[in-house]
Amino acid sequence: MARVFNFSAGPATLPLEVLQEAQRNLVDYENCGLSLVEMSHRGKEYDKVHTRAGELVREVMGVPPGYAVLFLGGGATLQFGMVPMNLMEEGGMADYTLSGSWAKKAISDARKIGTVNTVYDGTDTAFTTLPDPDSVKSTAGSAYLHITTNETIEGVQWKQFPRTEAPLVADMSSDIMSRPVPVEHFGLIYAGAQKNLGPAGVTVVIVREDLLERIPGTLPAYLSYGTHAKSDSLYNTPPVFPIYMVKLVLEWILREGGLSAIADHNTRKAAMLYDAIEGSDGFYRCPVDPRFRSEMNVVFRLPSEEMEKQFIQQAAAANMSGLKGHRSVGGVRASIYNAMPQEGVAALVDFMRAFADAQS
Ligand SMILES: Cc1ncc(COP(=O)(O)O)c(C=O)c1O
Repeated sequence: MARVFNFSAGPATLPLEVLQEAQRNLVDYENCGLSLVEMSHRGKEYDKVHTRAGELVREVMGVPPGYAVLFLGGGATLQFGMVPMNLMEEGGMADYTLSGSWAKKAISDARKIGTVNTVYDGTDTAFTTLPDPDSVKSTAGSAYLHITTNETIEGVQWKQFPRTEAPLVADMSSDIMSRPVPVEHFGLIYAGAQKNLGPAGVTVVIVREDLLERIPGTLPAYLSYGTHAKSDSLYNTPPVFPIYMVKLVLEWILREGGLSAIADHNTRKAAMLYDAIEGSDGFYRCPVDPRFRSEMNVVFRLPSEEMEKQFIQQAAAANMSGLKGHRSVGGVRASIYNAMPQEGVAALVDFMRAFADAQS
């Protein structure tokens, strides 16, 4: 099989060795005579997977004691609602940074629960920049302050995080485990798995345990973090196969040298692309403020939309898929998550040079 370099924003490329290990175990899980997806989630085989996946999240990210690690369904999108339902009293108030399309969705759901105080609004700059983290402060009486650490569509990424009085809540869907982060500065972190952690279907939530005490008792069981924390994410049938694959991906991250090594690798890959853009005499143009350019989603424009279309088509013919920018913003987007090998980025850089040369 000729594997393509998959630059899709998510579901995204996974390490080949992880896919192969999952394939080997799919039909006959560790010689049990049945597949993991056919087993009870309360049996001892699955229990080992479930427990180890949770331990690995703690180990790889350096989650300190006093935090619960949860595996939930519903995608990061469900968290847009669960966060305010659990942490903001009904009719309460929370601070949000409006940094791009995903933050906008989080805000839209939070407004259904209480008052949203927008402490940063990047609308005027079309979400091409972010504030100085030190200038972002929570408001007195705010239940929490929410940031989106990487805006997958606009390609902006926080390099440092605000230190706030109110608990800091982060949607890390598109850059979780791409670099070390000080988990102890966050009240709650959530991320859909389908970019850096595994397949779609499971969302990781890391929540400081003292915050569980404010959850209203009126929430339906599944919507309460307390339910999942108490039952170790086994209140109902968890997404067993995605959790298994998250475990395999986390083991791969450890084999790669952990998050510092992964971060070095990511910084190198992103620099290759941004250097190619900057060195193209204006043929390629990245609209994002250089201080906040994402190391996960590199967005850029060509001189015309017609050329962008040809670029994407010709790249696909050359075995590089998923380069089309999000439909809301257009352009080109190269998503280079943890599992994108350096050779994939090198191939794209070569293609960019050849494409630009062919137009002159
Ligand atoms: C930053 C961010 N937040 C939230 C989401 C929504 O995730 P899901 O599709 O898992 O609900 C995405 C999906 O791409 C995302 O990139």
